[in-house]
Amino acid sequence: MSGHFDRARAKAFAGTMTDVMNGGALALMCSIGHRTGLFDAMATMEAATADEVAAESELHPRYVKEWLSAMTMGGIIDHDVESETFHLPPEHAGLLTRAAGPLNLTTFCQYIGLLGEVEDDVVEAFRNGGGVPYDRYPKFTGLMDESSGQRYHHTLIDQVVPLLGGAEQFESGIDVADVGCGSGLALSILGSAYPNSRFVGYDFGEQGVAAARARTAEAGLTNVDFEVRDAAELGEVDRFDLVTTFDAIHDQARPREVLSGINRALRPGGTYLCVEPKASSCLHENHDLPMAPLVYTISTMHCMTVSMAYGGPGLGTAWGEGMAMEWLGDAGFVDIESSGIRDDRGNSYFLSRKAGS
Ligand SMILES: C[S@@+](CC[C@H](N)C(=O)[O-])C[C@H]1O[C@@H](n2cnc3c(N)ncnc32)[C@H](O)[C@@H]1O
Repeated sequence: MSGHFDRARAKAFAGTMTDVMNGGALALMCSIGHRTGLFDAMATMEAATADEVAAESELHPRYVKEWLSAMTMGGIIDHDVESETFHLPPEHAGLLTRAAGPLNLTTFCQYIGLLGEVEDDVVEAFRNGGGVPYDRYPKFTGLMDESSGQRYHHTLIDQVVPLLGGAEQFESGIDVADVGCGSGLALSILGSAYPNSRFVGYDFGEQGVAAARARTAEAGLTNVDFEVRDAAELGEVDRFDLVTTFDAIHDQARPREVLSGINRALRPGGTYLCVEPKASSCLHENHDLPMAPLVYTISTMHCMTVSMAYGGPGLGTAWGEGMAMEWLGDAGFVDIESSGIRDDRGNSYFLSRKAGS
């Protein structure tokens, strides 16, 4: 070891590392609280004993008691020593329950467990390069659907459509494609709101496309279609008035081909909405991102590694605004601007156009 050893700094860092371990542990327990419905049940209850919480939630009392202990120690749930009761304060319920909609952070806590499932594979990739392919994340489509869904239901019609210039164009009828559509939730929301427009979703994940088709069939939508297709080989020319990608460029194996293919697929003057995680392309400018460590972790253990699994560059979740705008320009887009919506502070909304009338 070289240089001066700062004992106070070492002591403070011991505290930081303790917080790291406790935070990781609590994220897993919050995920369990979400999946079992414990937070939702407790949000409706007055102060209650562990047995009462277990009975209300129809869960095993011993597990619920241990979970309540972890939640109490983490400052998430209040505990009254005298009455041996537990209570979820409303100020906390607003970030932990399904009723909280897009503010429910427990949905995202599920990513910690999902990433833990591929830790061995990622360690292997650190040693030998390459990456972890999509099929090593069997729960990913479902979780993406849930976490994106929280956002789409709340923002798509009320905030994203106005950003795109308003509902009028959708009402009169336009052709729209969503590339990397996952399980198709965005298009099913738009498709049912705007029956005069035609929507196509592309994804190379068969599981996601099957879920997307089932969703629109169940809703009886005839103006929304989905196809299994590699986004780097869209092969469409002058076909769409609007193309969207929601969190679907940074984890591509061939992102430049995807962007130029989208440009070709648009009609002259058509709009491309590219939604990507909000970040700077310069590491040192990302200290203020509230969840920066989480963003880089998800990148390492999912977004970057899936790209590298298929021979891609591994842009990473935080490839950032500067690089995104430069690559949009390289792909032929014009009038590129970075924008955003009120209730999705975690993403940048890049608007651009294909040159022409
Ligand atoms: C992070 S997910 C986003 C899904 C969806 N847009 C959402 O917001 O919920 C990225 C999606 O891109 C898809 N994808 C990745 N590479 C692709 C490729 N080469 N061709 C088509 N889809 C691809 C994945 O299967 C996945 O569904």
